[in-house]
Amino acid sequence: MLILGIESSCDETGVALVEAAGAGVPALRAHALHSQIQMHQAYGGVVPELASRDHIRRVLPLTEQVLAEAGRGLPDLDVVAYTRGPGLAGALLVGAGVACALGAALDKPVLGVHHLEGHLLSPFLSADPPEFPFVALLVSGGHTQLMRVDGVGRYQLLGETIDDAAGEAFDKSAKLLGLGYPGGPALSRLAEQGDPAAFKLPRPLLHSGDLDFSFAGLKTAVMTQARKLGDALEARKADLAASTQAAIVDVLVKKSLAALQESGLRRLVVAGGVGANRELRQQLDAACARRGVRVHYPELSLCTDNGAMIAMAAAMRLQAGVQQARRAYAFDVQPRWPLDALVAGRSLSSP
Ligand code: KG4
Ligand code: ZN
Repeated sequence: MLILGIESSCDETGVALVEAAGAGVPALRAHALHSQIQMHQAYGGVVPELASRDHIRRVLPLTEQVLAEAGRGLPDLDVVAYTRGPGLAGALLVGAGVACALGAALDKPVLGVHHLEGHLLSPFLSADPPEFPFVALLVSGGHTQLMRVDGVGRYQLLGETIDDAAGEAFDKSAKLLGLGYPGGPALSRLAEQGDPAAFKLPRPLLHSGDLDFSFAGLKTAVMTQARKLGDALEARKADLAASTQAAIVDVLVKKSLAALQESGLRRLVVAGGVGANRELRQQLDAACARRGVRVHYPELSLCTDNGAMIAMAAAMRLQAGVQQARRAYAFDVQPRWPLDALVAGRSLSSP
């Protein structure tokens, strides 16, 4: 079964081909990505209308590219999968519209995928895929969650952020320091030259006794510190970046360990854009190695948004029988798809 996956929820157009045979882990045949980062950089953040227009320009050439790379043609497709939500409405509509148009033209069924489930299952695309059950730390630009994952569609929310996401904390702090968009990679690059112990920044909810996060106070602390430094900020920027990253990573690591302890599981999966952070990977690897816990990450290139994770999630949902692909081409996207739809496998059905 050959599945085309289209991701267009935000500022990357991703298209990929995944092939599933029997019950084995589906295999990635080809994937292609166009990042809009350069285009949005001039505005300091994503401009939704520009994002949609660019997705329109990219999605068909990228589709042709992956088919050519895999030596396949449109008639070889069995299912067309797309990101149904959450994300920017106009951007989602481009991927959904193209997927449904292809499905209708080829008389092939389509399947709408939850973007976060794509991230969650993206480590199955790696050379060393995890096995169920595991604890998942999902850290993206919009979400920070710890989940217990017992199988495809069997997700239990253990804790989540009560305000900003970890990626948001990176992005907003980076903006305060005058670093570019997207802030996470820029801040972590600068942090490599700084002292993580230079400034004492808050680690909110670290000892709250639950598995929730709060990052909104961190950006205020970074802003206060930056103001205090005044003219000296420029010379201490790397130290402040390193201290900010240390605060975020510290909380993510400690809460992940607490989730492992509470659930009694010995396997951790990290997914979402912040999962690309080198310091987070090093700290998690060290802490988990001491406890005999295996950690799985997606390939670095598949941490941030991409089409491969969407095709993979579709393949795994079909394999597990938790969702059917349908010849229903209504492309009703869900920009604010409630998170609890992803939890406990409820209502993640196609339109
Ligand atoms: O998963 P993703 O690509 O998009 C969403 O679904 O949100 O995550 C994007 C987020 C952004 O906040 C970005 O700054 C952050 O991931 N990010 C990083 C790194 N690479 C991406 N944060 C810290 N360190 C990185 N290396
Ligand atoms: Zn994402």
